[in-house]
Amino acid sequence: MRPAESTLFNHARNQLHGLCELAGFEPGDENPAILLRELLGPAGARPLRERPSHASDVADDGTPVEFSVAFDDDGARAIRVLGEAGGEKPGHSTDVAAGKRFLAAMSKRFHIPTERFAAVAELFLPERPQGKFAVWFSLILRPRARPRLKAYFNPEVRGRGRAKELVVEGFRRLGLDDAYETAARHALVRGSRDRLSFFAVDLDDSPLSRVKLYVSHSGATAADAERAAAAVSGADPTQVRGFCDLLGGHAGPFSGRPLVSSYSFVEAEPTGPGTYSLYLPIRDYVPDDEVARGRVAAFLSARGLAPQLLDRAIDAVTRRPLRAGVGLLAHVSLRLGPFGSGTTVYLSSEAYRVAPPRRRADTVGTEVINSAMTS
Ligand code: TRP
Repeated sequence: MRPAESTLFNHARNQLHGLCELAGFEPGDENPAILLRELLGPAGARPLRERPSHASDVADDGTPVEFSVAFDDDGARAIRVLGEAGGEKPGHSTDVAAGKRFLAAMSKRFHIPTERFAAVAELFLPERPQGKFAVWFSLILRPRARPRLKAYFNPEVRGRGRAKELVVEGFRRLGLDDAYETAARHALVRGSRDRLSFFAVDLDDSPLSRVKLYVSHSGATAADAERAAAAVSGADPTQVRGFCDLLGGHAGPFSGRPLVSSYSFVEAEPTGPGTYSLYLPIRDYVPDDEVARGRVAAFLSARGLAPQLLDRAIDAVTRRPLRAGVGLLAHVSLRLGPFGSGTTVYLSSEAYRVAPPRRRADTVGTEVINSAMTS
């Protein structure tokens, strides 16, 4: 599965292949591997035993990709890959150039419209980007459908003090003049503890293509997330609480990696966000991945989804015992709103490193909840 000479691309391609299989892709469908290879660029050819030329913030161990499996409540599934295109040399400026090359090539090959990227590129991609990243992409793969792309920009790329200005202007350029105010009223209410973390654009030309704004809430409680969810009419706040209780093990405050809210806006519906999503970085609230798996399986079952799919997804990405590390299950998100709801599980590639488990005794409270749930 993982010979010493394996490259980053081979390692991640095998993982992606397994995930696509469980999502019902035709075995001969080459598109996922083509997209992955192009996204990784030259970094993909490096042997795993060499450290990455630059540690990406996409994942904790510096791997520039992270997988996710989206389980819609109506039974549909999508496989996604979040990734950072790597340049020849370390540094955000070469990553931006690599990202643009990736987009140009994929747009040609898969007919992906780039107008919305172009509308905000110069705003979010200055010559000297600051912060943890400049641009990431997500590949959205569904069986028998054309692959889609989403671009993620960093609101703090010109410094934290200019994040609001960039987001307001980004929305304006995409025809969503009131979006910032709506999001701010519900999710930017805790001073500097609420932070603009991503501005994401569907690379699509349909009137239903989305612009998403992500806000991270440091030290927040489930009640803070419920308040944020209330911006979306038809998002049931009690589901937010159940999600935090079951997956986080308590109702907060979540003092490790922060809860993150996102709103998605579409031009065709400019009055308010159509979807609220809450992301919980479950890896900071469990001692190891076995506990994380138990909680996610219980949550999926409670929503009427088969937990066997989770196990197949885990088997696609790793062979290691789940107790032997923490962070394979990196985040879990819950999506709510009138267009349908669903749960997404984010799986780390762990190409370079497995984070050691924490002692279970350190987290007695969460263990009690977990065993009560799975018994
Ligand atoms: N690794 C970063 C983090 O955990 C960025 C990231 C990757 C992320 N996938 C995510 C953030 C999903 C929120 C949700 O913050």
